Amino acid sequence: MKSLISIGDLTKDEIVDVVQLAVRLKAERSQGTFVEGLQHKIVGMIFEKPSTRTRAAFEVATVELGGYPIYLNWNDLQLGRGETIADTARVLSKYLSGIVLRATSHSTIIEMANYASVPVINALSDLEHPCQLLADLMTIYEKKGTFSGMKIAWIGDGNNVCNSAILSCAQMGMRVDVACPPGYEPNADIVLRGQQLSPVRVIHDPLEAASAADILYTDTWISMGDEAASAQRLRAFSRYRIDEKVLNTAKDDAIVLHCLPAHRGQEITDEVMDGPHSAIFEQAENRLHAQKALLLKLPL
Ligand code: CP
Ligand code: NVA
Repeated sequence: MKSLISIGDLTKDEIVDVVQLAVRLKAERSQGTFVEGLQHKIVGMIFEKPSTRTRAAFEVATVELGGYPIYLNWNDLQLGRGETIADTARVLSKYLSGIVLRATSHSTIIEMANYASVPVINALSDLEHPCQLLADLMTIYEKKGTFSGMKIAWIGDGNNVCNSAILSCAQMGMRVDVACPPGYEPNADIVLRGQQLSPVRVIHDPLEAASAADILYTDTWISMGDEAASAQRLRAFSRYRIDEKVLNTAKDDAIVLHCLPAHRGQEITDEVMDGPHSAIFEQAENRLHAQKALLLKLPL
């Protein structure tokens, strides 16, 4: 693994390795033990869009591993004035040991990786959110002890997080049902790739998706960049909410995931988010451990 652009780039064994290392790092951290491994490594974080979890978790992870993070706001770089991604990649590769990049367009991440001589990590694009799924799979592993044979139901928008969930959960041998409104389906190529690995269905009934699910997962109805279509989206998605009814349709021991930030009362109710089935805040904590494991596995 040289970079992490798509979660689909990782083999099943590589995902298991990252998850198991993350679980170990979490246990050691809770005992006050910090593994080092990034001494004298400088990790650049370029964000074209806002972030709370991804940025903070990568900065903390880098520091705790003995490295040094540099946050680079897109608009403060010459990128904002038209310097090319390719030239930026070439120059930053001379200073940095790795580049974490959150970009509007997935092609920006691919271009950065093509021209950088150091590892590039996709910290969210319009197509995928692989770092999120590493933490989510870690959470599933902690809660369920296995991946194989689990059923995950995605309720809501067929967005970037959904695409990465399909690719990675199918890779791990899980069944995937996506329930979304017509017109908001996940990426068709990704669905086909997922279907070659495991049963993946895209349907339109949230209760049918939730039926016998071990894991329920949702995300905002209005992703960063979709704000102009808010009114239309609020109408289209009003049925696609994880509430008590959807939760009661899933297995008795189902867990609920949300990548956050949540719009409480829209895609998820307060009751479910703060209820006993929610693993959402452990999932958010696991961003730190999973990203730390990723930084250790990449050739920074
Ligand atoms: N889930 C996630 O990536 O959150 P941030 O946008 O806060 O980084
Ligand atoms: N789908 C959301 C995820 C945020 C972490 C977005 O792209 O805005």
